[in-house]
Amino acid sequence: MALFRSREPEAPLPEIDLTRLPRHLAIIMDGNGRWAKRRGLPRTAGHKAGAETFRTIATLCNDLHMEYLTVYAFSTENWKRPQEEVGAIMRLLNNYLHEAISDMEKDNIQLHFFGDLTRLSPELQALCREKDDISRRCTGLNVNICLNYGGRDELVRAARAFARDCADGKADPEALTEQGFERYLFSAGTPDVDLVIRPSGEIRISNFLLWQSAYAEYYFTDVLWPDFDQRELYAAIAEYQSRSRRFGGI
Ligand code: FPP
Repeated sequence: MALFRSREPEAPLPEIDLTRLPRHLAIIMDGNGRWAKRRGLPRTAGHKAGAETFRTIATLCNDLHMEYLTVYAFSTENWKRPQEEVGAIMRLLNNYLHEAISDMEKDNIQLHFFGDLTRLSPELQALCREKDDISRRCTGLNVNICLNYGGRDELVRAARAFARDCADGKADPEALTEQGFERYLFSAGTPDVDLVIRPSGEIRISNFLLWQSAYAEYYFTDVLWPDFDQRELYAAIAEYQSRSRRFGGI
């Protein structure tokens, strides 16, 4: 089983079984900065290219009739980056949301956000709310964008909300189950992640979907996110389909 895959530009599109696709694919969109640096461009150019790749991959997943795609766009730790870079990522999200909102019904994509949106600009928050009504009319791919998201932060918030319900007499600590706890997460109602893809050669989780990925398969590639394409997506899915998933059994 390969943990780390290198790019083979001449290779044909890997064969995948369309009847056994991951139901929930999650992606850490990493390597934008290095992609730009290698071209002598500002880091923000890498994020712009990364946003294009995101659109391409979301369209491919929708065309494959996959059900859930969750991407890590901005973590609770990313605020530490230079203000200019944070601003550029927020502008890209803003642009994407404007486009996505106008194209959503045509694309039939449902859009959701995981994370604490209260720290975003009022305009971005309004756009995030605007897509809800349209999403309800769509039946295609569910795209979840993790924005000001951290896996630990999500778990602490869930624990706090549950404790509040206990204090208010609405919940009983002794009766809590895993399914019951899931209802307090940003991802409530979303199935567990089947496959996590991390490009750019980094082999770590970085606080991404800690609860939801408990039994996910991981796929790492040294391709930088802006260069991630259909061939890479298919290679990841083919590798996923070759794995034996036992969920702790034998
Ligand atoms: C990680 O690469 C990438 C980010 C922190 C930002 C991701 C944001 C986008 C792709 C654009 C907006 C998203 C959407 C959904 C429209 P890095 O900067 O850490 O790269 P490096 O490790 O090479 O420096």
